[in-house]
Amino acid sequence: MPPKHIAIVTSSTRTPRLNPTITQYVYDVLTNDPTLPTRKPSPTSADTIDTDPRHITFTILDLAKQSLPLYDESVIPASLPADNPTPHYTKPHTRAWSAVVREYDAFIFVTPQYNWSIPASLKNALDYLFYEWKGKPAGIVSYGSRGGGKAADQLRGVLTGLRMRVVGTAPGLAVRFTGLPVGAASEEEVEVELDKRDVEGWRESGVEGMMRNLGMELVCELDKE
Ligand SMILES: Cc1cc2nc3c(=O)[nH]c(=O)nc-3n(C[C@H](O)[C@H](O)[C@H](O)COP(=O)(O)O)c2cc1C
Repeated sequence: MPPKHIAIVTSSTRTPRLNPTITQYVYDVLTNDPTLPTRKPSPTSADTIDTDPRHITFTILDLAKQSLPLYDESVIPASLPADNPTPHYTKPHTRAWSAVVREYDAFIFVTPQYNWSIPASLKNALDYLFYEWKGKPAGIVSYGSRGGGKAADQLRGVLTGLRMRVVGTAPGLAVRFTGLPVGAASEEEVEVELDKRDVEGWRESGVEGMMRNLGMELVCELDKE
C-alpha cells in the first residue's frame, strides 16, 4: 500500500488568529504518538526511511495561504466528472485548490467556533469542491471558550453532505487562558503561545487522548482502502 497523506487543516484566516497554534498542537500530539505509523525522518539521513507500508505523513494545510475568494465558481462541483474534475473548473484558483486537495487521502479539520458554527473561510473552501473530498476519511478538532462543540456538530453535517467518512471522535479544546495580543492591528501573522494551564487542562480531561484516538480511527479508515 502506498504511503497515506493526511492534511491537518487550519481553518480560520483572520489576523491575528489562534488557529495556527492549535493546529501545531494537534500536529505535535499526533506525530509524537508512538502507536501511529507516522513517517519519521531517519536520525542518520536527511531522507526518510520507508519501512512501514502503512506509514502516514501529516502536513499542515493553512486555508489562509490558499487565497480563495468568496465562492465565485460558475460550475457545480458535483456535476463534474468524478475521476478528474480539476480541468473542468472555470477559475484558476479553483483548479489550484482542487489539485491541492487531491494530494491528500484524509483530513483533520481544526476549526474555531464562530457564532455556534464554523468560520465562513472553511465553509467557502469546502464548497469549492466535491469529488476531491468525497469518500475520504475526515476528523474534526474544534476549539472555543467551551470547546466549540456546536461548530463540530455543524461541520459534521457539512462533511457528511460532501460524502466524507467522518470518524466518531471529535476532541473539543476549551480555551480558557490562551489569549490573542490585544489591539494587534498588524497584517503580519503574530505567533500566539498556548497558556500552559490550557494544555494541562486538555491533558487532564483526556482531550489529548481523544486526539490520538482520532488519529488511530483515521488510520483504520485508510487501512480499509
Ligand atoms: C466572529 C466570532 C464569533 C465567535 N463565536 C464564538 C462562539 O459562538 N462560541 C465560542 O466559544 N467562541 C466564539 N468566538 C471566540 C473564538 O472561539 C475565539 O476568538 C478563537 O480565538 C477564534 O479562533 P481564531 O483566533 O483562529 O479566529 C467567536 C469569535 C469570533 C471572531
